[in-house]
Amino acid sequence: MLQINHLNKSYATEHGLVHAVGDVSFGVARGEFLAIVGSSGAGKTTLLRMLAGLLAPSAGQIVFDGQPVTAPPRAFAVVFQDYARSLFPWFSVQRNVELPLVNLIADRGERLARVEQMLGRVGLADHSRKRPAQLSGGQQQRVAIARALACQPEVLIMDEPFASVDAQTRNELEDLMLSIKQEAGTTVLFVTHDVDEAVYLGDRVLVLSRSPSTVAREVIVDLPAGRDQITTKALPAFAAARAAVLSSIVEQAAVPA
Ligand SMILES: Nc1ncnc2c1ncn2[C@@H]1O[C@H](COP(=O)(O)OP(=O)(O)OP(=O)(O)O)[C@@H](O)[C@H]1O
Ligand SMILES: [Mg+2]
Repeated sequence: MLQINHLNKSYATEHGLVHAVGDVSFGVARGEFLAIVGSSGAGKTTLLRMLAGLLAPSAGQIVFDGQPVTAPPRAFAVVFQDYARSLFPWFSVQRNVELPLVNLIADRGERLARVEQMLGRVGLADHSRKRPAQLSGGQQQRVAIARALACQPEVLIMDEPFASVDAQTRNELEDLMLSIKQEAGTTVLFVTHDVDEAVYLGDRVLVLSRSPSTVAREVIVDLPAGRDQITTKALPAFAAARAAVLSSIVEQAAVPA
């Protein structure tokens, strides 16, 4: 469904060119959950912004359903790490989720029904009248996820979405992603620093080299679909995939810059 061909990105700065992404190619199947890991500065955010159509590549192309991506496609939604800045603080939770639907669903009743459905899906049905500041960090990130899902995207792009929440909340949000994947069949591109998270959620994990990045390794995660935090993480296949990803990251860290 999505093909990434020889993507390359250099930023022009006052100190010269910063070569962030070297040569990245991979494909994504419909309904796949692809996790992407790599060290800080490897170019993960740069890559995701190009995939989302938010940043023009220096070279290479992104092809979605046979069409080159040159602007943010309607079928894509993005969730970033910083939920505090991604929600409108002066609007209610309900209004925040409703906003992207205003141009899509003309009938307000129908629109609000969709909003309630999405808030229900992320476990916030009783919070729709609150403002974001009246919610915990994990709840705010749930609002951002509900908003992203409201347009029923075919591709959900997430850049370290759970990096700012505590471990328990993170587990809950990971399980929310698994249920979304099962219920909606959304294709997800998910960047994370956390190897366990990448393996727990991913059907496949891409390890990026240090910048200018390439795909250093691809690890297929051979775990059953019905995953849970305790049983899945105790499986030998989980440990094997985790070790493969970790060793690749360690190898990359040892490559001289
Ligand atoms: N707007 C920009 N202008 C100039 N250089 C940039 C810009 N954005 C990113 N870079 C540089 O590109 C490289 C990759 O940055 P990027 O943010 O994509 O990495 P990352 O893998 O997302 O890192 P992190 O894990 O810390 O979020 C870094 O060297 C960074 O300094
Ligand atoms: Mg980043």
